[in-house]
Amino acid sequence: MKIINVVGARPNFIKIAALYKAYAGRKDIEPVLVHTGQHYDRQMSDLFFRQLEIPEPDMNLEVGSASHAVQTAEIMKRFESVASEHKPDAVLVVGDVNSTIACGLVAVKQGIKLVHVEAGLRSFDRTMPEEINRVLTDSISNLLFCTEQSGVDNLRKEGIAQEKVFLVGNVMIDVLLRNKEKAKDSNILDELGLSSDDYTVLTLHRPANVDNTKVLGGILDAIDVIQKRMPVVFPIHPRTRNSLSSTSLGQRIEDMRNVHLTEPLSYLDFLKLMSSATVVLTDSGGIQEETTILKVPCLTLRKNTERPITVEIGSNQIVGTATDAIVAAFERTMSGKNAEPQIPPLWDGHAAERIAEILLDKV
Ligand code: UD1
Repeated sequence: MKIINVVGARPNFIKIAALYKAYAGRKDIEPVLVHTGQHYDRQMSDLFFRQLEIPEPDMNLEVGSASHAVQTAEIMKRFESVASEHKPDAVLVVGDVNSTIACGLVAVKQGIKLVHVEAGLRSFDRTMPEEINRVLTDSISNLLFCTEQSGVDNLRKEGIAQEKVFLVGNVMIDVLLRNKEKAKDSNILDELGLSSDDYTVLTLHRPANVDNTKVLGGILDAIDVIQKRMPVVFPIHPRTRNSLSSTSLGQRIEDMRNVHLTEPLSYLDFLKLMSSATVVLTDSGGIQEETTILKVPCLTLRKNTERPITVEIGSNQIVGTATDAIVAAFERTMSGKNAEPQIPPLWDGHAAERIAEILLDKV
């Protein structure tokens, strides 16, 4: 079975790493790896390939950054000839980024089976570009692999035939569990002068948070309070860096003496940083899941989550972006009144193997 695997943006690399481990040594699966080039910085892309032992992409479409329409259209244009040349049995896409929907659309229009890994997640917030990508990709996929039961339920409500849908667990967690020991060797805490369990990690990259000065300013006001209690490490996503440097907020965060600003970190450094943190503040989707497994309290700086299991049984709280709400949630978390988090069903490190078995049976 020949299967084209598509990656474009940072979280995709992690998910594909799990699948490539499951494909390794299997003579019955011939994987082809296509990098769309949506993320291209060394820190956002190359480092992940190296640390996670993902093979060099068979091709890189080198689309780079652009508006949503241009980026999506360019990926489609460039992927069309790749798909028609390779004539794969299936195209597999992961997550919810522009590369996911762009390559998905090209595949189905060529009559190629489309496989979506991390299907069914819904924030029910259509202002999020990822939500549009999720809904559209799921509606055209032939096989849909879900990380949690809410995904299965959402797909059923949207009328997707249940025989196409499989609850398999979480490939991102496969990678985390495989790399947890290795991450212990990271020197990132020493490099930043931090002690274990005595700092907060912050990540921000959602357009709704970082492209809006009022929202971003409100979050930074909360960070100003928190950094007076304990160090805050803030690896800055390129989108956020652009936003900060084009306003006075860049200077504001630089003036906070207990905030450590860093480039985007490698996978292993970031895993070590999360594992040893007291609290993680984030607007990322994947980090809500990773902190659940690590049992580190996560305060999600959004109004909603497409990953409700992390709140129901994990360590995640949905806090929003208002200054007072963030500070109050931080204080509550520090006072230790948190339920003991549980591990979601099937987040056991074997999701990718389950996917490979089902692919062989169904494609
Ligand atoms: C994308 C995904 C988002 C995912 C995130 C992870 C979409 C719609 N969004 O958002 O779901 O959570 O990746 O990081 O697909 N840039 C660089 N170097 C890079 C990549 C980007 O400098 O390697 C800068 C560019 O200025 C670019 C901006 O970051 O315009 C945004 O990049 P883009 O790929 O449009 O989306 P992300 O915000 O990274």
